[in-house]
Amino acid sequence: MNQEFMPKVALSSGEKIPCIGMGTFGSDRFAPKQVSQAVAGAIRCGYRMFDCAAIYGNEDLIGEVFDDAFKQSIVEREELFITSKVWNDMHGKGDVLFSCAKSLRDLRLDYIDLYFMHWPFPNYHAPGCDGDSRNPDSKPFSVDEFISTWRQMEKLVEMGLTRYIGMSNMTIPKLEAALPLCKILPAAIEMELHPAFQQKELFDYCIGKNIAPIGFCPIGSPTRPERDKSSDDVADIQMPEIVEIAKRHNVHPAIVCIKWAAQRGQIPIPFSVYENEYAQNLECVAKDPLSPEEMAIIGKADKNCRLIKGQVFLWEGAKSWEDLWDLDGVIAK
Ligand SMILES: NC(=O)c1ccc[n+]([C@@H]2O[C@H](COP(=O)([O-])OP(=O)(O)OC[C@H]3O[C@@H](n4cnc5c(N)ncnc54)[C@H](OP(=O)(O)O)[C@@H]3O)[C@@H](O)[C@H]2O)c1
Repeated sequence: MNQEFMPKVALSSGEKIPCIGMGTFGSDRFAPKQVSQAVAGAIRCGYRMFDCAAIYGNEDLIGEVFDDAFKQSIVEREELFITSKVWNDMHGKGDVLFSCAKSLRDLRLDYIDLYFMHWPFPNYHAPGCDGDSRNPDSKPFSVDEFISTWRQMEKLVEMGLTRYIGMSNMTIPKLEAALPLCKILPAAIEMELHPAFQQKELFDYCIGKNIAPIGFCPIGSPTRPERDKSSDDVADIQMPEIVEIAKRHNVHPAIVCIKWAAQRGQIPIPFSVYENEYAQNLECVAKDPLSPEEMAIIGKADKNCRLIKGQVFLWEGAKSWEDLWDLDGVIAK
């Protein structure tokens, strides 16, 4: 795809970045090699933004792909916008630098474009654990702990190891507590966003503060692991409004989800290892837009259905996954 036709989103710095990126979380379904091969194909297709993370377990293979693409002059480093994330078990003093250095080495980069705090607390769980498991060391959110990790993130910017820093899986109460204490504000906040979970308040809050919202699970993560599924979850690609609009445009419902996201003003980061899917996901943001009426229909179809509930990060004594998301406007203790 010709980059001239790729719509862009402006960060608060004024820099324009792609309006869509590619997710790289292969989860339990796709081997690291399948994901890295998809990244190679996606670069050739015209993707210029990639959402990586240490915990996805594939940064070393994706790094080989980036390195090859630079060596073969398929793309230059400056043309790519690459994100990575510090995992929850690396919030301790000095650990953020260590984690960033490892991601840089694995990704074979001199700098990351946007480095995220993956979750706003140090709670973590063993990979692949089941949904009911609890780590006895897990604790509720603490703004002091958060800011001490954020200070390490700020240091990475000062050291030139990342150009921007961002937060992920935040809520308005947590942002209200943390933002006044930041020396460097987040350029972006990564959050779950799809037609059945629009997070209008948080989305508007970010736009109002000139923080770019990046939307994960933009298609409603239809292939997420069983442990992240519950019986009352809504499937975005089966919502009647989405299916109807997809028929009108003669596209898969997934494409409607992505068009809606990009036109609303968030940056979707859909994942797929299949070339026909990831190529369409990219191309769809540059042609045949949804009408204002279709945008309004989807806007009204919100089901407030969070899919990535995060229950494995709960602390002992927490009541339910809702405690992670400050639903009544107060940070749960
Ligand atoms: N910050 C965070 O905490 C966080 C959390 C979750 C995810 N993320 C990021 O967000 C990315 C995306 O999330 P996700 O992978 O969970 O969900 P997603 O992008 O909503 O869904 C991905 C699935 O949608 C299907 N799909 C993709 N394109 C399609 C198309 N054109 N037509 C039909 N089906 C299509 C694919 O299923 P098939 O494989 O069956 O075709 C694919 O596995 C992740 O890869 C990761 O980078 C971040």
